[in-house]
Amino acid sequence: MRTPLIAGNWKMNGSSRLIEEFARALEGFPLPPTVEVALLPPFPYILEMQRALQAGGVKIGAQTLNPLRSGAHTGEVSGRMLKELGAEYVLVGHSERRRLYRESDEDVYDRLVAALNEGLKPILCVGETLEERDAGDTERVVLRQVGKVMAPLEPEQRPLVTIAYEPVWAIGSGRTPSPEQAQEVMATIRRYQGGFDAKLASGLRLLYGGSMNAQNAQELLAQPDIDGGLIGGASLKVDDFLSICHAAG
Ligand code: PGA
Repeated sequence: MRTPLIAGNWKMNGSSRLIEEFARALEGFPLPPTVEVALLPPFPYILEMQRALQAGGVKIGAQTLNPLRSGAHTGEVSGRMLKELGAEYVLVGHSERRRLYRESDEDVYDRLVAALNEGLKPILCVGETLEERDAGDTERVVLRQVGKVMAPLEPEQRPLVTIAYEPVWAIGSGRTPSPEQAQEVMATIRRYQGGFDAKLASGLRLLYGGSMNAQNAQELLAQPDIDGGLIGGASLKVDDFLSICHAAG
């Protein structure tokens, strides 16, 4: 009932050559039809990737957006521009944006609403730091991050949001929570959404992110509340990324 989504977040990595590698690989090894696959490259590659990989069934997304449509904001990119380039998804609230670029829950909300207003599908990233986990605060932190964004939305906007649970300590570290630990947090997020509307909760697509790779994907994706993955490092390796896509199929 929920179509799995595997989304690759290239961060500030990748190249035209890597796009070509993906295009070649997809010719010989088509994606499973039961899985939605997206790649989120840095802005300058969006159009090129769109042209090279769309035929292979890969959807394209971006990693952030400015909440305004246009204006005197040197260096920024708006949702309208991303839409025009053919982007379908956009990340909001990635922990690197929260930490390195000081994006607050309010900033995340503004970006998510801007994405919805432009017809982009936002992927809201949430997750606790190691200190927060060790202090037993995981649930409180994650539900605060979800609630600050989801609560003020209009009821018809909420089903358009995908949520990625990414424990900050698992990102890029090679460490992951056990599948059961990840499942527990994700079930909590789904239950929280049930407080708005039961149909919303059962339709909500929840991704796990943080050192997901070709070896551990199957086990994580087997959990009942994990509907896909947000993949960083492993999305830069064609074979690994495609094998995660197949594990979700
Ligand atoms: P990782 O990154 O897979 O390299 O841990 C995930 C992410 O930051 O989205």
